[in-house]
Amino acid sequence: HNILVLHGPNLNLLGLREPSIYGHQTLEDINGILRLDGEKMQVSVTCVQSNHEGVLVDQIHQALNKYQGILINAGAFTHTSVAIRDALAGVAIPAVEVHLSNIYRREEFRHHSYIAPVAIGQISGFGANSYRLGLRALVDYLQKDL
Ligand code: DQA
Repeated sequence: HNILVLHGPNLNLLGLREPSIYGHQTLEDINGILRLDGEKMQVSVTCVQSNHEGVLVDQIHQALNKYQGILINAGAFTHTSVAIRDALAGVAIPAVEVHLSNIYRREEFRHHSYIAPVAIGQISGFGANSYRLGLRALVDYLQKDL
């Protein structure tokens, strides 16, 4: 299987950005770990980050016939983007939503996710480990054809 990992806005600042909330690992650190995890699970992992909603929508469209699963941290677009949600619903590629922080113990405006209803499931609050757990859950889902 080929997995697309999509990182939304401001995640390029990881390591630098509010480390007490998001941790000290950089995005490249996380991507490197995910690629290694992917090798162990015999899936190929491709990582893309964008600060632009439309680019993320385009990436989701272009995933058709190329990727069997999407792991997505839409960042702040989680709480605002009907367009990203519709793109995921449109391509109907199984997706897992992840967040570094636990969005439910933060500000009220982070409690709602537009992505959640079109995702298989969501992992939130485990730092970089959220991505690893999410990748694992997605690969399990695809391999078991659940
Ligand atoms: C985030 C949580 C969002 O509320 C926030 O806007 C982010 C990161 C997370 O990974 O914890 O940019 O998606």
